[in-house]
Amino acid sequence: MTVTLAPDTDGIAEAARLLTAGELVAFPTETVYGLGGDARSDRAVARIYEAKGRPSFNPLIVHLPDLAAAEAIAEVGPKARKLADAFWPGPLTLVLPLKSGAGISPLVTAGLSTVAVRVPAHPLAQRLLRAFDGPLAAPSANPSGRVSPTRAGHVLGGLTGRISAVLDGGTCAVGLESTILLADPAPVLLRPGGVPAEAVEALLGEAVGQGGDAGKPTSPGQLASHYAPEAAVRLEAVEARPGELLVGFGDVKGALTLSGTGDLVEAAARLFDTLREADRMAGPGGRIAFAPVPEMGLGRAINDRLRRAAAPRS
Ligand code: TXA
Ligand code: MG
Repeated sequence: MTVTLAPDTDGIAEAARLLTAGELVAFPTETVYGLGGDARSDRAVARIYEAKGRPSFNPLIVHLPDLAAAEAIAEVGPKARKLADAFWPGPLTLVLPLKSGAGISPLVTAGLSTVAVRVPAHPLAQRLLRAFDGPLAAPSANPSGRVSPTRAGHVLGGLTGRISAVLDGGTCAVGLESTILLADPAPVLLRPGGVPAEAVEALLGEAVGQGGDAGKPTSPGQLASHYAPEAAVRLEAVEARPGELLVGFGDVKGALTLSGTGDLVEAAARLFDTLREADRMAGPGGRIAFAPVPEMGLGRAINDRLRRAAAPRS
């Protein structure tokens, strides 16, 4: 069941309570409705991917109430700060170096060393972020491949029964997603959106480079290399060969496991930490084998990531 929460003090308190309990709540921003979950919780973020039916772990945007909160998790360079001062709160997302120990789930950044940060202007989003008092990962609140929602009814049309609640804030004013930008050392546009590139150029007094779609990098190895462990990786393994470290799933037991009970949400939540831990245990020149993960639901995104990890290195 997905409940609709009224845009009042009680509705916001209930939304914050659900989020604190690791549940998913859709909420309005000035651009589109976001599908919010606690960005510090591997499990909550895994459930965002599950609810959207995303076939891969694209990095998600972290929503925060203000610049000070952004500085707690990311390095804000000089141009980023200038942009934040001018356009936050508002429809601008900055991709910034992630601070170590920031506590953001590696599923949010898809294992990258950068994090996309946004300070939404919508008063309900602001009130929710302050009531929740933490970072919210929030992609647009639509099933993967469908149009972004600008009304609570759109959210329910796509995600009813898959999320706990939607905070009903009426119609979103901007209606298209935030602009995504790399700011330092030089501005690069990763996705056009609510803040025009011309406004960024006018503020910084320099041209904005074109970075293409951040979710689909032009160089295919660009993202893949971030996900690759040092060790050689073999997939669909039902037992360890000599010298291999086996990572199990369900009935296939290993030195580590993605989920002993075969739970795909748990497996997704543990994926990036397990990759790192397996790499550490396998050691230099080591080999890792992964048990089969079913190609369904979150398993598709997990297998996409594992295939990248196993892909031949350039
Ligand atoms: O307006 C918006 O931005 C909406 C509302 C809900 O705030 N949110 C949104 O989120 O559009 P989402 O998850 O659909 O957009 C995420 C995109 C990714 O596809 C990727 O292009 C970019 O943000 N992104 C996130 N983290 C990144 C990173 N570390 N490096 C490069 N790009 C990143
Ligand atoms: Mg989207």
